[in-house]
Amino acid sequence: MDDYTIPQHWAHYSAADHAVWKTLFERQTALLPQLACREFVEGMHALPLSADAIPDFAALNEVLMPGTGWQVVAVPGLVPDEVFFNHLANRRFPSGNFIRGADQLDYLQEPDVFHDVFGHVPMLMHPVMADFIQLYGQAGLRAQRIGKLTELARVYWYTVEFGLVKEQVQGASGAEEALRIYGAGIASSFTESGFAVQSPSPHRIGFELERVMRTRYRIDDFQECYFVLDSLSDLLDLARIDFDPVYERLNSGPTYAPGEVLLSDKVFQRGDGGYARSHKPVSACVE
Ligand SMILES: [Fe+2]
Repeated sequence: MDDYTIPQHWAHYSAADHAVWKTLFERQTALLPQLACREFVEGMHALPLSADAIPDFAALNEVLMPGTGWQVVAVPGLVPDEVFFNHLANRRFPSGNFIRGADQLDYLQEPDVFHDVFGHVPMLMHPVMADFIQLYGQAGLRAQRIGKLTELARVYWYTVEFGLVKEQVQGASGAEEALRIYGAGIASSFTESGFAVQSPSPHRIGFELERVMRTRYRIDDFQECYFVLDSLSDLLDLARIDFDPVYERLNSGPTYAPGEVLLSDKVFQRGDGGYARSHKPVSACVE
């Protein structure tokens, strides 16, 4: 099977490409220490990432490989599901080797090197996320064979891409609980970083596997709901789950819209939906 990998061709990046990286990098590194979880910020600092230039994957891998056994490989853009899962199952993270244009700083048609490297790789330095994404790759290969990809993909979406986690932080009156970003889709987005943690609009609900697997998501705008882990270590329990009985149960029962709140939900913050009402066509979500 073609694995779609290509050389990164680091020397081919233009000065304009590196300048886009610099702008994106400086915005996020100023924001995230207040909004992202400790593990993300630690990963960010441990890696050879800087504002100066788009990272060279070979240099990144010199730190990532001995850290958690992962490596970044270059691909030209989105790859077929089976190829993607196969990479993850073998601890290879496929990253787009191109970067968005200066006129599209906050808009992404498909994941570029900023989303894939800046958004994902810091968390790949964390042993729990490192194991979870590998196991997700294995689960993905199976889900694809048995026709359950839609349901499984929602787990990835609401964790690896758009997950929040509880964290103890030092507030004005001592230690307090805060919600922090670990999802790459949020961490690599200037506008969604603040929105996900601080906006009154979205719901923030405790992560519950079946609930999440029944919940559709938006690919065209900010999320209407974020699911919150008590701790990143919950991801490991999740990865060890035998999904077959879960898929079985998902064959019947409801599917939820992205902005729905259920009586059974553990609601941390109920959103007022203001942003969603003013910005979004109701039909624009995917399974
Ligand atoms: Fe991603």
